[in-house]
Amino acid sequence: MGVRVFAPATVANVACGFDVLGFAVDEPGDEVIMEKNDGKGVRIVEITGDDGRLSKDPAKNTVGVSVLKYLEHIGQPDLGIDIILHKKMPFGSGLGSSAASTVAGVFAVNELLGKPLRQEELLPFAIEGERIACGAAHADNVAPALYGGFVLIRSYEPLDVIRLNTPNDLFAAIVHPKVEVPTKDARSILRANVPMQQAIQQWGNLAGLIAGLYQEDYDLIGRSIEDVIIEPVRSILIPGYQDVKRVALEQGALGAGISGSGPSVFSLCKGEKSATAVGLAKKEMFAKYGIESDLFVSRV
Ligand code: HSE
Repeated sequence: MGVRVFAPATVANVACGFDVLGFAVDEPGDEVIMEKNDGKGVRIVEITGDDGRLSKDPAKNTVGVSVLKYLEHIGQPDLGIDIILHKKMPFGSGLGSSAASTVAGVFAVNELLGKPLRQEELLPFAIEGERIACGAAHADNVAPALYGGFVLIRSYEPLDVIRLNTPNDLFAAIVHPKVEVPTKDARSILRANVPMQQAIQQWGNLAGLIAGLYQEDYDLIGRSIEDVIIEPVRSILIPGYQDVKRVALEQGALGAGISGSGPSVFSLCKGEKSATAVGLAKKEMFAKYGIESDLFVSRV
């Protein structure tokens, strides 16, 4: 008997937490179906929804790599496993597409084998899948995809991941404009050094955001969603970004920013009604720039 696992989209960075903060949403997401076979080794038997772009070689595929690393770790590197991946998320969208695939894969193999590892022990394998997909082993998509809610990566070496409180009425409105921005490219344009003044602003905001999540203080959450380091550089890759962000704030969003490495634009809102209005306003603004987009509204 096989297993079928869904893993959700995620918003990484959340403005002020580049590479250290992310949250999961309900949809979209990817699905992995996995079963044992009588043969030897991992086979990717089918991939749908990728327009033929993903490799079926397990050593070159984000799901395959994380499953191979996992099997090596538990001492069963030759176990026969068949994988089907249903990609239901766009590439280069800033929604954590590769993370959803890799997390679904690692979670599925652990279930298939009767859960030899605890959920928190799965994270390093999912991070390896992310390394293959975008050249950087960042965890701010895979960790929230695995745990749900808001997650902080306090440290990468050693890996120290903290699940954060998420206020009940916090909703995300994410608009995905149909423009592709590969994470690799969006990382390559960033500056290596940060001026002290900007660093001070950024860590003040990050601390404020986390305090806001715990105090369930929606105003504090809103005024902490500010990115003075990454957004000024990356926003040039997103047509109409400043106008889209402006209408989100005018419509009552608590805050807005680039989702992961873009081009999706997220907003955090109090309540579903507000999130829907904010999302529709952003979608309309992208349309004014001649760009089609998809809207996802979800409780965080
Ligand atoms: N933290 C990563 C980045 C997330 O911004 O490059 C990529 O989705």
